[in-house]
Amino acid sequence: MPSSSSILSFLGLLAMVSGHSVILNVQGIAGTPASVGFQVDPEIARNCTSISPCQQDATLIRDAEIKANVVNECGRTEINGNIDIGENTENALSANAVTQVEAGTQMTVTIHQVNADGAGPYACDLVEAGNNGVITQNLTVANNVPGVNGFSQAKEQDFNVTVTMPDTLACTGSSAGNVCTVRCRNNALAGPFGGCFPVQQVDTTASKNVASAVDTNLSLEKVQAQVAQDKQDLPAAIKAVQDAGTPENLSAAAVASSVLGLQVTSSAAPVQTVDVVTGIAAAAATATADASNNGKKGKGNDKNNQRREVSNFRTLADVLLKEYWLTRSILVAFYA
Ligand SMILES: *[C@@H]1O[C@H](CO)[C@@H](O)[C@H](O)[C@H]1NC(C)=O
Ligand SMILES: *[C@@H]1O[C@H](CO)[C@@H](O)[C@H](O)[C@H]1NC(C)=O
Ligand SMILES: *[C@@H]1O[C@H](CO)[C@@H](O)[C@H](O)[C@H]1NC(C)=O
Ligand SMILES: *[C@@H]1O[C@H](CO)[C@@H](O)[C@H](O)[C@H]1NC(C)=O
Ligand SMILES: *[C@@H]1O[C@H](CO)[C@@H](O)[C@H](O)[C@H]1NC(C)=O
Repeated sequence: MPSSSSILSFLGLLAMVSGHSVILNVQGIAGTPASVGFQVDPEIARNCTSISPCQQDATLIRDAEIKANVVNECGRTEINGNIDIGENTENALSANAVTQVEAGTQMTVTIHQVNADGAGPYACDLVEAGNNGVITQNLTVANNVPGVNGFSQAKEQDFNVTVTMPDTLACTGSSAGNVCTVRCRNNALAGPFGGCFPVQQVDTTASKNVASAVDTNLSLEKVQAQVAQDKQDLPAAIKAVQDAGTPENLSAAAVASSVLGLQVTSSAAPVQTVDVVTGIAAAAATATADASNNGKKGKGNDKNNQRREVSNFRTLADVLLKEYWLTRSILVAFYA
């Protein structure tokens, strides 16, 4: 979690961003559901170029921010901040909004260009494990959005590009065990703009993940940088929890959340038991997930996900709410 000063400088930065594009629709195998870009809000108007509302779900995906551990590989939107890949993927699965693919499938990706620097060319790549942060392959993009260096004079316009899944494909992510994350972005200097979306592979057997087979890691340098950042952020987070405890603050936070108005469909997740010998999880007997989140975006209770939280927050109340959840999870971890 960045310090308050970095949040403030972020907000300053965001105010200068003035371009965008949105992934409105992705169709893999014909007849399967369509995917939508992570955090793309169907309620946001597409008939204007202004920052508010038409750029609010713009997704920025900047390598420097990824490297600085401010965001993950899927970046952030102006209205909702850091995109939680795991949460978005599970929400999409639950809402039956994940398109299906096989190796070699040609997908039609509809990119909405809001204004000049949402133009092409777009490059797409793939996280086959879904949200482990490892880009495994680049994808071929045909029929690209017109543009050079992310610029053209097109605006408020939809373009269909063709993105081909590779011949060697092994999607292993999500609770389904067969979901990849596809990322597409342009090369605009104010961006890069674009987005990520999930695709579900149907020509392989879904993966049953085993902890000992997870082979990604962070360098010692990155781990230490993360620890240092967390230590620096902790006092502010604790203070935020204390402040957020007041009824005034909680109701302010509730108003902020309702303004954001995100709806998710929650479905129960099965409880699995891991085999002592193989480490493979057996199919579950019971389904007892807490669906009390229904209708509102979960606020950070995402153990499944990378802990890079935060970017821009619409209101201070939202900052406090996020700080609250972070500190809560840190304290829970301390006392566990
Ligand atoms: C723009 O789209 C919104 C809905 O997304 C609609 O309410 C509004 O009337 C439209 N404005 C114009 C000028 O067409
Ligand atoms: C994927 O594309 C990026 C540029 O966008 C390049 O740096 C990288 O080397 C490519 N990876 C492969 C495996 O071709
Ligand atoms: C893009 O493709 C979709 C089908 O996925 C189609 O409905 C739509 O009309 C196409 N849009 C353009 C601008 O070609
Ligand atoms: C783990 O990290 C080290 C150091 O960064 C690197 O050399 C190694 O390739 C990584 N292993 C995997 C499986 O990613
Ligand atoms: C939190 O509530 C206090 C009053 O209890 C108020 O002074 C403060 O401005 C509130 N902070 C936010 C961010 O709403």
